[in-house]
Amino acid sequence: MTSPAVPNPIAPPADSVMSQPGFTWGVATASFQIEGSTQADGRLPSIWDTFCATPGKVLGGDTGEPGCDHYRRADADLDLIADLGVDAYRLSIAWPRVMHADGTPNEAGIAFYVRLLDGMAARGVKAMVTLYHWDLPQHLEDAGGWLNRDTAYRFADYADLMSRRLAGKVHAWATLNEPWCSAFLGYGNGHHAPGLSDPKLATQAMHHLLLGHGLALAHLEANDPGAQRGIVANIGRGGTPGEGPGGGTSGSAEDLDAVRLFEMQHNDWVLQPLLQGSYPQELFDRLWPGSAPVMHDGDLAVISRPIDFLGINYYFRSTVKADGRGGFDMVERPGIERTQMGWEVHPQGLDELLVGFKARYANLPPIHITENGMASDDQVVIEADGPRVHDVQRTAYLRRHFEAIDRAIRAGVDVRGYYVWSLMDNFEWAFGYERRFGLVHVDYTTQVRTLKDSARHFRDFLHRRREG
Ligand code: NOJ
Repeated sequence: MTSPAVPNPIAPPADSVMSQPGFTWGVATASFQIEGSTQADGRLPSIWDTFCATPGKVLGGDTGEPGCDHYRRADADLDLIADLGVDAYRLSIAWPRVMHADGTPNEAGIAFYVRLLDGMAARGVKAMVTLYHWDLPQHLEDAGGWLNRDTAYRFADYADLMSRRLAGKVHAWATLNEPWCSAFLGYGNGHHAPGLSDPKLATQAMHHLLLGHGLALAHLEANDPGAQRGIVANIGRGGTPGEGPGGGTSGSAEDLDAVRLFEMQHNDWVLQPLLQGSYPQELFDRLWPGSAPVMHDGDLAVISRPIDFLGINYYFRSTVKADGRGGFDMVERPGIERTQMGWEVHPQGLDELLVGFKARYANLPPIHITENGMASDDQVVIEADGPRVHDVQRTAYLRRHFEAIDRAIRAGVDVRGYYVWSLMDNFEWAFGYERRFGLVHVDYTTQVRTLKDSARHFRDFLHRRREG
């Protein structure tokens, strides 16, 4: 542990509510990224198994195997989580593990999650459970995936089954993780499974994803009324080419308009239907003409059913400029601190966005930062006291984002929790295992876990906070 005389380099300000017992601190993962065992106990193939098997889609040809072999190492991983001293763990359920293709329950798959949640309860760790973190069963994709309205109803069936079986074990349910990524990266530009690339498909997929969310809420409420219900959205901050590393945006009217459009595409495309029951029309009129989704009467009322919390995932700022055709182009801005992903480090973007959402959405629910973190090329070094990983950049990144959240809270935004992405290094989608986001280093050959320095500081902060 850090000695009391030495300030902990990760800790949020001591006088922040984030340092008080009421604030929820956690770590996050997702099923496909950590579980491995992709064929165990009758698990069906998902769109990500198919995508990984398609040459050229995932860096290095990496797949969901071995993952972190978490399906077989869950107990030891729960010990690791409990040892960190977090209040909560955000995990996701693999839909293809828990339902057969005919919609009947796969008992072996369900038993895995029951064991996991019971193991967390035994260790005093609260569960935030994401129902959909991108691993759509392939048989549903074969029937049209999220382009098929029926998939929203199949998702609701799945939510119904899970909330009946896991009732009482889950503190908070999140229906979808980052529908923007599922819709835009999956159907709009093809960077993610299922790999289609047409914005018109993306808007339709988005509509069915959000419809599935709204339909699922009713089941969660009926089956597990004591649990919190919400959804997780990734948010993006835009910046103009000329502005410095500080906060705010500045530039020509055209570039500021490009920033506004970028943020509408990233943020309001998801938040406006959820919170106000309408889509930003400019998206369909101006950015992607003719792309308005096919909807049924009443869909937007289902989509905008009240939620108890909004999960927010924030990572970086993007620089954009007007493209001269009414849209925006992405720009590479030199001389700025970046992560292993090439993403710009910009903590101020987080509080600026949160404060902006509060001003824009009168009914903004309480916020949990459900993901934030960074990838770095972390190496294990053997030192006198054992293996160590000196991830200095991550420690500073996290602390600076804690400070941003503290600023947002002081500005009146109701932020109640924070989850580091990620508990451990894992399968980073199209980038495979090369990009390491973990607090804990994973050696994929031996599956040895090594706490990075960031994890040691985080643990130190959490343990001291508990001791009061
Ligand atoms: C968003 C996703 O939810 C998660 O699965 C991913 O690994 C991280 N961000 C980092 O890209």
